[in-house]
Amino acid sequence: MLPTQRPRRNRKSEVIRDMVQETRLTTHDFIFPLFLIEGQNQALEVKSMPGIYRYSADKIIEEVGQCVELGIKTFAPFPSINDALKDRLARESANPEGLYLKTVADIKRQFPDVVLMTDVAMDPYSSDGHDGVVDAESGEILNDATLEVLGQMALAQARAGADIIGPSDMMDGRVAWIRRVLDENAFSHVSIMSYTAKYASAFYGPFRDALDSAPKKGDKKSYQMNPANKREALRELALDEAEGADMVMIKPALSYLDVIHAVKERTHLPVTAYNVSGEYAMVKAAAQNGWLDGEKTMMEVLTSIKRAGADAILTYFAKEAAAVLRRG
Ligand code: PBG
Repeated sequence: MLPTQRPRRNRKSEVIRDMVQETRLTTHDFIFPLFLIEGQNQALEVKSMPGIYRYSADKIIEEVGQCVELGIKTFAPFPSINDALKDRLARESANPEGLYLKTVADIKRQFPDVVLMTDVAMDPYSSDGHDGVVDAESGEILNDATLEVLGQMALAQARAGADIIGPSDMMDGRVAWIRRVLDENAFSHVSIMSYTAKYASAFYGPFRDALDSAPKKGDKKSYQMNPANKREALRELALDEAEGADMVMIKPALSYLDVIHAVKERTHLPVTAYNVSGEYAMVKAAAQNGWLDGEKTMMEVLTSIKRAGADAILTYFAKEAAAVLRRG
């Protein structure tokens, strides 16, 4: 018998395909991560992330300016800190004169309308390369001692002008802790985007190269989540909601589309996904080899993350994708 249902009718021309398209990317969806380094007039490409640079403070202003021109309005800066400034307690992270906070303040001064989501986690400043305080004897990650550090870091970032605080550390209770510290210091208007389900993923490799932030010993499995677990993400979601998160995030994105979807179905908060460094590197590497069409793959990847339920996407592709969207 011939088919009575013909879904292909809705695909028969570009105009019809456009009309019935369910998911559409816009530049408003993107949050662009930025890597900062000390010095002047520096733009050093990250080897494992072609097209992504570590910029000195002066250069970052140019980069933000170009992105704003393309319609990107939200940025997530991360610092690469000199080894000499790293210590067990990540003290440099609360230094208002340090690279990170000075640059954050500078970006806000030059671009008052830009939204900055600052990263709260010890790893870029930690001599141990961990997101928490490491017990010198046992090597354990000390949750509650870490909360003190995170609270001070978040407060210093709010003072520097951060719009959104993004705790990426996965310590227990940190959203409530940071919320309280912010509120007690008259920063109740500063938002928290919680890294709700952050997995202990192999996809962070290029990021750790960029910031020289890999753990000196051990791994992050005692705080980041097991990639095999989805229900645990929903438990973290419930806690972050109860603790006062304004937005939640799933990280990485591509191997976790089911988690994005499950979280989206259960929360009324905006859901963000972090399309991480390794996901970027995979596409770039294949494209450089001529094995994939880099641009089409990029747009498909981003569209699929949005289709899964992400309201916003942190992605190293932001600038390139914004240029594609502008071209139409
Ligand atoms: C650590 C942090 C990591 C990333 C963002 N914040 C790496 C890690 O947990 O080791 C990774 C982002 C990426 O890979 O793009 N606080």
